[in-house]
Amino acid sequence: MSAISFDPTSGVWLLSTVRTSYAMRIDHTGAPCHLAWGPRLPLAAVGRLVPPHAGDVSSFEGRSPAGEELPVDGGARYGAPSLRVRFADGTRAFEWAHLDHRISEPAPGTTELALEFGDRHYPLAVTLHYRVHDDTDVIERWTVLRNTGREPIAVLRADSAAWTLPPRDDYRISHVTGQWSAEGLLHREPVPHGETVLTSRRGITSHHANPWLMLDAGDATEDRGEVWSAALAWSGGWHLTVQRTSDGRTAFTGGAGHDGTALPLGPGEEYTTPRFAALYTDRGFGGASRSWHAYVLAHVLPHPDETRPVLFNSWEATGFDVDETSQKELAAQAAKLGVELYVVDDGWFGGRRDDTAGLGDWAPAAERFPQGLGPLVEEVHRLGMRFGLWVEPEMVNPDSDLYRAHPEWVLHFPHRTRTELRNQLVLNFARDDVAEWAYTWLTRLVADNAIDFLKWDMNRAFSEAGWPAQEDGQDLLWTRYVLNLYGVIDRLRADHPGLRIETCSGGGGRVDLGILSRTDQAWPSDNTDAADRVTIQHGFGQIYPARVMAAWVTDVPNQLTGRSVPMRYRFHVAMAGVLAVGGDLAHWTQEELTQGAEMVARYKEVRHIVQHGTQHRLRGPVDDGPTAVQYSTQDRREVFVLVWQRAPRHGMPRPALRLAGLDPAARYRDAATGAVHHASVLTGYGITPELPAGDWSSTSLHLIRVDDEAVDDSGRSAS
Ligand code: GLA
Repeated sequence: MSAISFDPTSGVWLLSTVRTSYAMRIDHTGAPCHLAWGPRLPLAAVGRLVPPHAGDVSSFEGRSPAGEELPVDGGARYGAPSLRVRFADGTRAFEWAHLDHRISEPAPGTTELALEFGDRHYPLAVTLHYRVHDDTDVIERWTVLRNTGREPIAVLRADSAAWTLPPRDDYRISHVTGQWSAEGLLHREPVPHGETVLTSRRGITSHHANPWLMLDAGDATEDRGEVWSAALAWSGGWHLTVQRTSDGRTAFTGGAGHDGTALPLGPGEEYTTPRFAALYTDRGFGGASRSWHAYVLAHVLPHPDETRPVLFNSWEATGFDVDETSQKELAAQAAKLGVELYVVDDGWFGGRRDDTAGLGDWAPAAERFPQGLGPLVEEVHRLGMRFGLWVEPEMVNPDSDLYRAHPEWVLHFPHRTRTELRNQLVLNFARDDVAEWAYTWLTRLVADNAIDFLKWDMNRAFSEAGWPAQEDGQDLLWTRYVLNLYGVIDRLRADHPGLRIETCSGGGGRVDLGILSRTDQAWPSDNTDAADRVTIQHGFGQIYPARVMAAWVTDVPNQLTGRSVPMRYRFHVAMAGVLAVGGDLAHWTQEELTQGAEMVARYKEVRHIVQHGTQHRLRGPVDDGPTAVQYSTQDRREVFVLVWQRAPRHGMPRPALRLAGLDPAARYRDAATGAVHHASVLTGYGITPELPAGDWSSTSLHLIRVDDEAVDDSGRSAS
């Protein structure tokens, strides 16, 4: 059970999650200081914990950058501040004055703590929020700033939270970097002394980094060891600073906005930071990922219990060349394959023949869809599939009627070049008129055409991020853009409760806990080469569950990499998430169509395990030997394992795969062969699944628990 309690004797607040504790108190200066984050502690014990920065060492040290709940710019502090403000008279130092605290239960199973502060002199209220749930070790934190005075305050940095690790001999960080078509490349490296910054200055979450990290003492493995991990729920630019101090501590602070951005806070205005969620586990990196997956399913996604359908997407099949006739033909093929959701990608609207024109003109192109989208949508529905459509509402091509009518709607500065990327400019979604325009055409489009699904794309980073018509526009827009984007999506969802949305930004440029709380799945990468995808999916799955990981089977040679791998391998890789098909079915041979239909049918038999189960990475991406991932249902009655092998080397025997998390007393029947396995052997000694010979071989294993009485002593099924 989770809870939040306060011990008036010691002045300690204790947050208890299922398996962990987190404690803090107000120190002698009035600042909220950190006491503990780790295995569960009784309240009686935390009173004896010593604040990390007790005792002055010299006149040069000041307060340690590690050990405060929200280090401010003020006093003898020299680390990266979580809160930095400039009051109207130019004063920049903040001084804590603790006012009150509130513990509440906003929903059954959820407890919240609000620690209320003001500045000792200036009119700025700061409230630190903490929330725990009774089914997770994730602690959610955010901060609310309120200008209670009559003059503006410049907020130069407002992180959601700072987190402090307990003292350890060493520290290591796990995080992802990447670029377009190479998202989610996982790095695990020592935390350097000094400050390490993970950030996006692009206005979106970015392909280049993702706002999460895992820290360990250098001793955690996939299966065991202590890991502290955090993830930010924000879809714009962001900033995480990890500090490894000279006194041997590690802490990190993070929030929305990158260096150099500021937020004007007018009289009476309030700013709520995004949620920054974090967890501690002693079950290794795999345990941390499983806790994140469960948290996303229980507390982030709008419809976690739904099973995502098998989708077809036209992009790699037909590119911009979409029209009613050819899409109807493709849809007929897709339906035969077992597809349940047919998505028409880019090219259906305005003057969009390639990426040079048309973005912004969101009416179906008359020569391609003479009677609008209606006949195609009807046909797709008649074939028993749902209908989805690609949109990119935040963008405009200069060659469009929209831009000709509203050149002032894009992010821009006077006298500066409007830098085009992919021939497009960014619409300033921070403007209410732009957001209203987008909402209006989107809600009409969805209603008029009975659209079931939108793929919401965003295909370039910000540049010249200015808003000349608005005072302080260049500062305001970074947050307002994201909040208005969220607002449009939220209103659309409210208007159309059946509508489902995929988040996409040139692949995985906008995947985070913020956007996932209002979408249903994510497009992790434009790179659909199954070989590369194993690595991309490995990085994606560190935090985000298979339930949101869309994965297409596309044609070979792959459009991006030129690599050809067998269809079976491509399917097996895509079956690790939400299976989809993106190949040009008009050119598939009969044999390929038959094999494709078999694989889709097979996926449907196991997708409840993949999408709603528990994931164990049995072997991460490796050049040599197999990579394998296991999914098990929550009740552990069914297990599904996917195995991919690039190229066997030197005829070496393959290592046995040890399955994870099974009840050792149970036995499991292989659904394909009927062979019965003892779980104690599967987990303790492992199995070596049959893999076809040669490069790019892959297989899957579906195990179903057998009741003990149905198995005789020889281990064969008695039935
Ligand atoms: C982005 C998306 C692709 C596709 C194209 C269309 O790159 O990630 O999947 O939709 O845009 O222009």
